[in-house]
Amino acid sequence: MEVVIAEERTLAELAADAVERLLRTEAAPVLGLATGSSPLRIYDELTSRHTSDGLSFAHAQAFMLDEYVGIADDHPQRYRNVIDAQIAARVDFAPRAVHGPEGSAADLAAASAEYEEAIAEAGGIDLQILGIGTDGHIAFNEPGSSLASRTRVKTLTKQTRLDNARFFDGDVDQVPPLCLTQGLATIMEAKHLVLIATGGAKAEAVHQMIEGPVSAMWPATVLQMHPHVTVLIDDAAASRLQLADYYRHSYANKPDWQHL
Ligand code: GLP
Repeated sequence: MEVVIAEERTLAELAADAVERLLRTEAAPVLGLATGSSPLRIYDELTSRHTSDGLSFAHAQAFMLDEYVGIADDHPQRYRNVIDAQIAARVDFAPRAVHGPEGSAADLAAASAEYEEAIAEAGGIDLQILGIGTDGHIAFNEPGSSLASRTRVKTLTKQTRLDNARFFDGDVDQVPPLCLTQGLATIMEAKHLVLIATGGAKAEAVHQMIEGPVSAMWPATVLQMHPHVTVLIDDAAASRLQLADYYRHSYANKPDWQHL
């Protein structure tokens, strides 16, 4: 696990560099897209590279991490619509190249299995962008999620619904109680995981993820078992790390030839 502590703008540029390298070198790249406010700057940076430098997504596919269950198709907080607004509709993805779990399906178990198949058919995810919840969830894998979980229905915790109420007029009761989410084992199959977290509210979750024991109580700790994880955090999110000086030293002395 590589930990990079830097300013928000630098973090977004580093993540965009990794995505750009993939898009420019792979014939059929597959991106994993996260919702939430954390990846926004990455998406802004990618959009600007698309507009100014001709960075193209036309040959890529993308898979979203999760979706609310039972949210209206035209609700602005439906994750499908959020991803369209934040990145998908701002660049040149081919029609139907961006996939999301079908949260309005009549048979959610079947929709989950189909989503897993679609990811496999695309050849798996090359680079997955991730955020982290204050309770250590990734995608919507809440505390207690099986570390071997696949795409399925999950019940959101009160904390996550409180955290996300800001997107629903500050009203926690408007936040849907259920979601469809890629499982932890699904996420672990992506080749490169790039997690971004900023702000002091994430400091404990970030500390547990990097330095705590692997446990379903802090689902993001499963990333310790992945061979290629990049954690991009600002000073505030890094404020509880025991080995922050070591991570800073390692990154400052990283060989030039080594990418993220
Ligand atoms: C939601 C999403 C997660 C995201 C988390 C943190 O729960 N399902 O994918 O990581 O929010 O969101 P934010 O980046 O807004 O703090």
